[in-house]
This record gives sequence, structure tokens and C-alpha cells, in this order.
Amino acid sequence: VAGDRAGLVKAKRTLGVGAPSGGTLALVPTMGALHEGHRSLMRLAREQADHVAVSIFVNPLQFGPNEDFSRYPRTFDTDLEICADEGVSVVFAPSAEDMYAPDRQVAVSSGRMGTIVEGAFRPGHFDGVLTVVLKLFNLVQPDMAVFGQKDAQQLAMIRRMVADLDLPISVLGAPTMREADGLALSSRNRYLSSHERHVALTLSRALFAGAERRTPGEVLGAARAVLDAEPEVALDYLVLVNPATFAEVEEDHEGEAILALAAKVGTTRLIDNVTVAL
Ligand code: PAJ
Repeated sequence: VAGDRAGLVKAKRTLGVGAPSGGTLALVPTMGALHEGHRSLMRLAREQADHVAVSIFVNPLQFGPNEDFSRYPRTFDTDLEICADEGVSVVFAPSAEDMYAPDRQVAVSSGRMGTIVEGAFRPGHFDGVLTVVLKLFNLVQPDMAVFGQKDAQQLAMIRRMVADLDLPISVLGAPTMREADGLALSSRNRYLSSHERHVALTLSRALFAGAERRTPGEVLGAARAVLDAEPEVALDYLVLVNPATFAEVEEDHEGEAILALAAKVGTTRLIDNVTVAL
């Protein structure tokens, strides 16, 4: 476990990473409260690289003033056990003070793409995500990094940043892990009461219903009908978008698109998406 930059440098030296024949390193960035979805990312990382680093950092920059930063679940001891269990070589868990100087000035801008869809409901969120991810890339210097399709716009924005800023890192996307009944795994699921958890199943049911249709109008209509039938789901958005740009697709679009939604169930805000073949 590396609790700061110096610890990270030491851990990498011990592994031999960065040395001429030291092997490759994959980074899995997380905010902790690890679950089976995070485990699947670590497994993909292990398949693709000689060593895996996991970062655990609840990034204050990506939370809005009325969001759940202070009550975000923190389960560090179990997180470490999970990482050990998955064969992770280094856990980088810096403090907020170690990551952000009080007089910091420069950050990453996510551009217009950071203001649409999820970004329209969370101003500044993607700037915060890209800033911390770029810092983690620079600190850990991995050969590759793994992100989940569960946060599809985040994955698309990271690919955009890597392309636009010429970062020498390959980005791997990993499929969304779900409970047997369809609920996408999320650290925020632990906020849900058992009744709310039942209501939350409407989200994946709506997405699966949409994914069976073959034109944008029908896809959105089928998903919307499922959501409309559950008054306890407060929908923020339901969109069908281009996977790379997150621009909404036209009615004549052919190929893959992402059907994405965000909704509140009780006070918990959940996001989910599926890939649709049009
Ligand atoms: P966090 O929500 O902890 O997620 C860490 C990684 O796990 C992300 O790449 C996310 O897409 C992936 N993930 C979450 N739930 C998943 C699921 N059910 N199946 C597969 N993968 C899943 O996303 C963040 O943290 C932060 O924004 C971060 C990138 C660490 C920057 O702070």
C-alpha cells in the first residue's frame, strides 16, 4: 500500500516496473467501496498486464456542492482485502492534501462534451474526473488503464482526453457487471432501502426493453414506457447517443448506440446504460 507519492515510487521500484525488462503495468482507478464490478476491472487488468495498480481516492473535485462526497462509502480495510484477493501489486491511496495543493491553478477542461447528457446535470463533474485521472496517470505512469462501461460517458471522455492530449496510455473498457436481477453494481447501491432497490430494477428493465428494438424512436419509446409505469423513479434523462461523442443519434442512425439514463430513486441518484445495435 502506497499512501503517498514517495510510497508509490518505492513500490514501483520494488516491482521493477519502469525498468527495461520490468514488465507492464495496468492501472484501475477507483473511489473505493469496491464491489464485483471493480473486481472485474482488476481481472481484466491482470490478463493484460504483468502488474496491476489500483488507486483508491474519493476525488472531491468531481462532486458538486449538493452531492454525496462527505457520505460516500469508505471501506478501506475490505477494499485492501479485495485487492490482495485479486492479485493487485500496488494500492495507491493518497490523501486529498497529497493530491491537491492549496494554491493549485491548472486543471483539465472536458470541453463541450463535458456539458452534455450527464454533464448537464453535474456541472464541473467531468473536469474533476479528467483532472484526477490525468494526475493518476502521471503519478502511476501505467502502460494501460481500465475503466467500466457502466460510466459510459466517463469512458468516452477519457478516450477523448488520451487522444486530444497524446497520452501514451492504452484505455481498456470493461463490460458492466450486474446483479442476477439486472441491477448494475454500484457503490451507491448501498444507499438503497430494500423497497428502493426493488424500484431501482426499473432502470435496467427499461434499458433491456429498449435494446430489443431496432430504430431510435422505438428504442426510446420502449424504454420510456417502462420508466413511465414506475412513479417512484424520478428520471433525469433517457438518451440514445453515439458511443464516442455522446451526441444524440438521428432517427436514421445505423450501427451501435448507447441507451443511457440517470434517475433518482428516493435520494439516491443512479446511472446505467446498455449498448444497442441499430
Ligand atoms: P468508481 O465509481 O469507484 O468506479 C471505478 C471504476 O469502476 C470505473 O471505471 C467504473 O466505470 C467501474 N465500475 C463501476 N461499477 C461498475 C460495474 N457495475 N461494472 C463494471 N465496472 C464498473 O468512476 C470512478 O470511480 C471515478 O470517477 C474515477 C474514474 C476513479 C475518478 O475519480
